[in-house]
Amino acid sequence: MAPINAISPLLLAGFVAARQCSNFLIPVDISSRQGQFQQVPVESNLDVGAFATRFNEYQKNYTATLLQGYQNLQGSYKISAQYCHPDNGSSSTIQLLTHGIGFDKTYWDLDYNNYNYSYVNNALENGYSTLAIDRLGIGNSSHGDPFNEIQAQAEVEALNAVTTKLRNGGISQIDHSYKKVIHVGHSFGSVQSLWLSALYPNNTDGVILTGFSAATQFLSYVVAGWNLHSARLNQPLRLGNASSEGLRGLAAQYGVTQDVVPRLQRFLEDAGADLTSQEVWNIVASTEVLDLIAGYNKTVAPLNYPSGYFASSDLTSLQYAFLFPGNYDIGLAVASEQTKQPVTAGELLTIGSAPKTSPFKGPVFVITGEHDVPFCGGNCYASVPNVTAPSFLTGVKAAFPSASAFEAYVQPGAGHGLNFHYNATAGYQAIQDFLAGNGLAAR
Ligand SMILES: *[C@@H]1O[C@H](CO)[C@@H](O)[C@H](O)[C@H]1NC(C)=O
Ligand SMILES: *[C@@H]1O[C@H](CO)[C@@H](O)[C@H](O)[C@H]1NC(C)=O
Ligand SMILES: *[C@@H]1O[C@H](CO)[C@@H](O)[C@H](O)[C@H]1NC(C)=O
Ligand SMILES: *[C@@H]1O[C@H](CO)[C@@H](O)[C@H](O)[C@H]1NC(C)=O
Ligand SMILES: *[C@@H]1O[C@H](CO)[C@@H](O)[C@H](O)[C@H]1NC(C)=O
Ligand SMILES: *[C@@H]1O[C@H](CO)[C@@H](O)[C@H](O)[C@H]1NC(C)=O
Ligand SMILES: *[C@@H]1O[C@H](CO)[C@@H](O)[C@H](O)[C@H]1NC(C)=O
Ligand SMILES: *[C@@H]1O[C@H](CO)[C@@H](O)[C@H](O)[C@H]1NC(C)=O
Ligand SMILES: *[C@@H]1O[C@H](CO)[C@@H](O)[C@H](O)[C@H]1NC(C)=O
Repeated sequence: MAPINAISPLLLAGFVAARQCSNFLIPVDISSRQGQFQQVPVESNLDVGAFATRFNEYQKNYTATLLQGYQNLQGSYKISAQYCHPDNGSSSTIQLLTHGIGFDKTYWDLDYNNYNYSYVNNALENGYSTLAIDRLGIGNSSHGDPFNEIQAQAEVEALNAVTTKLRNGGISQIDHSYKKVIHVGHSFGSVQSLWLSALYPNNTDGVILTGFSAATQFLSYVVAGWNLHSARLNQPLRLGNASSEGLRGLAAQYGVTQDVVPRLQRFLEDAGADLTSQEVWNIVASTEVLDLIAGYNKTVAPLNYPSGYFASSDLTSLQYAFLFPGNYDIGLAVASEQTKQPVTAGELLTIGSAPKTSPFKGPVFVITGEHDVPFCGGNCYASVPNVTAPSFLTGVKAAFPSASAFEAYVQPGAGHGLNFHYNATAGYQAIQDFLAGNGLAAR
């Protein structure tokens, strides 16, 4: 296996492309008509595994099994956002970025290797402003009940509320209003961007769906491949609350994140093994030990997700779902595992409920990695009768019968997590070029 380099401490050099960014919370009031689900046990990792087993049963529908009725969810929430504009001022067009499952808004602005994977920087260089949000329920946005509050519909309503505020100047930290809002999603964020365009076609000017396709049959691959655990048990120091008397106290006492590798190396030396610290780290980083030690930072409050928030188990499950072996930097994957985010039971139960078609009349672009697992089963060039390759991607056109322009684009060599692969920036440029060619240039 290739060495797992540049992990701890993260080397963050100072220079970043000229840009102005700030982070803040955006209050939103939403009303969402959505499912009322029976809550099943999700406390232990075995409970969560059982949920995945039931969810994946062939020709069964766990959503229908657990659905008890519908409810009107009304609530006030906070959406955590990173706003950026080019150094020399904002245009009247902004890209609103919605991450997928397993990530937060930093997916769009990875700081690894001096930000050379940053989608945000690419958009800024092309003159756009960006607003990347943590989806409702995730990261630093408001958390909530994982069955009956944090569902896809509620998140779409929150995304729409943020969009409206961008248009009418309703965000106090942003000094002007935006005339045009382009919705850019990844994976579940693409599902939500499509969903928004279906419910509120006049509230979007362009739809960019990354890590997406018309195929729905591969969701079970990724739900199985994640080997889902309870998030709070999987990374107890970061995703759980690991109280001060417990694991967190031990972490503080022994500085586990920094010290675990040399300590383990000494332990193995005493036992007669002869391993370098790099070799020890390579072993540790690709097992759940990485997750156990990830995230202790005495100055940052742990995210403390309740049971019912699930996380993929480790670096190998991250690779299966998001990364194409050989075409990504393992150090970046390790950093991503250490900053991963969960998925709620309610999100999984509603991800398949998106509208099948959207009346949106503007331009739509789909870009997906050649080896995408959740949306192409690992092969976006697979053939489907009577549809031109890449059929899973071109099939999305049927969902947008009124689009002014539609293009499907396969990013060569990439897996589902497009932004993590070598050559990601060339894929970003394909997006900006599509926008510029279809009336949505920044200026
Ligand atoms: C599963 O059941 C839900 C709730 O009844 C329904 O909305 C959804 O369309 C069903 N999914 C499939 C694939 O039939
Ligand atoms: C900002 O800089 C970009 C790139 O150099 C340029 O294309 C754009 O016209 C500039 N905008 C303003 C408002 O000066
Ligand atoms: C969330 O907030 C914490 C504490 O302020 C900060 O360290 C972290 O970077 C934030 N994460 C995101 C994704 O905004
Ligand atoms: C969207 O805007 C068009 C033109 O301004 C208008 O005719 C239409 O009713 C609007 N649709 C919705 C759903 O608001
Ligand atoms: C941590 O979470 C557990 C389970 O929800 C709870 O019993 C405990 O009181 C919490 N501890 C702290 C310090 O919040
Ligand atoms: C802990 O978090 C703070 C605030 O985000 C950050 O400045 C610091 O570098 C972090 N410490 C470690 C060891 O990661
Ligand atoms: C594909 O096209 C052929 C010829 O036009 C037609 O006979 C066949 O039914 C089509 N198959 C599907 C799956 O639509
Ligand atoms: C980032 O930099 C590395 C090292 O120079 C390079 O191999 C990689 O392709 C770059 N990644 C992107 C997304 O540009
Ligand atoms: C990098 O991405 C661009 C844009 O999709 C593509 O044209 C090019 O072939 C890719 N290069 C490699 C080596 O895959």
